[in-house]
Amino acid sequence: KVIALVTGGYSGEAEISYKSAVTVNNNIDREKYIVYTIDIRKDGWFYKQSNGQESLVDLNDFSITEADKKIYFDAALMCIHGNPGEDGKLQGYFDMLNIPYTSCDAATSAITFNKRYTVAVAAVSGIHVAKSVLLFKDRYTNAADIISTLQFPIFVKPNNGGSSIGMSKVNKPTDDVEAAIQKAFREDTQVLVEEFIEGRELTIGVFKTGGNIITLPMTEIISKNDFFDFEAKYKGASDEITPADVSESIAEKIRTAAKTIYSVFNCKGIVRIDFIYNEAACAPYMLEINTVPGQSEASLVPQQVKAMGWTLMQFYSAVIEEAFV
Ligand code: DAL
Ligand code: MG
Repeated sequence: KVIALVTGGYSGEAEISYKSAVTVNNNIDREKYIVYTIDIRKDGWFYKQSNGQESLVDLNDFSITEADKKIYFDAALMCIHGNPGEDGKLQGYFDMLNIPYTSCDAATSAITFNKRYTVAVAAVSGIHVAKSVLLFKDRYTNAADIISTLQFPIFVKPNNGGSSIGMSKVNKPTDDVEAAIQKAFREDTQVLVEEFIEGRELTIGVFKTGGNIITLPMTEIISKNDFFDFEAKYKGASDEITPADVSESIAEKIRTAAKTIYSVFNCKGIVRIDFIYNEAACAPYMLEINTVPGQSEASLVPQQVKAMGWTLMQFYSAVIEEAFV
């Protein structure tokens, strides 16, 4: 099968996408798959030829030309975090061309990429979520409403984004709420302001294979910074313990919530769901669903796959095969 490893993207997460693509590329089964890396950038969609030259992808049929021969793809392996690979746009494009892909479909991707819609759908499905307020740039005046409706500390984040880019934690109303909001508005026209949930941060990969939803061993994140920010995520300023050292009862609650979320949202491929386990409520609170979770050296899913006792090669093969189901 001929696979397009789709990487890059238009957001600040492009640099992480390239790192994810390196891990995937190094661990793909070349006896089963012929892989071409497609770099989707603002200046065009490119395929790097074996002679190092870049050539444009034909967007009419998502084909490339090498040595005067047209190459068509059997499937796309989605490795773009953020716009346009995690938010449903590329999914819609591939649907139009009848090209299978490894991620959630266009609708699920669009909903889960919007943090506000994600918590709304999860809440009606009985999943605990933090109280939040959504702000729109064109209607926003000041933070007075937030200060009176939400309990501090709060998280301020771009509603559509990832890797904690543009995100801040504000500990008390007298701190600079306004600066945090403006920082998030620089990344997105919508800003989600959410109450902080006290507890242990646990994140779990979930995927489907052979008709079964499988949870990976979960990771506990102990951030050395005030929260699991970009630095903590990718520059080592956190301890990540996989499998997490939690009681079986907590682990089971996380796994059950994760499987419920995976099926309620009709997910496909590998997703990673982030939770806070709150002791007082004896329940996990869902933070968000990452439908194209990072696969870089520093990322969590590869660690979880290894903790399950699988090789990354077995795992990526399983994920690719699901695209054809
Ligand atoms: N958004 C980053 C890549 C992640 O969820 O791993
Ligand atoms: Mg995320």
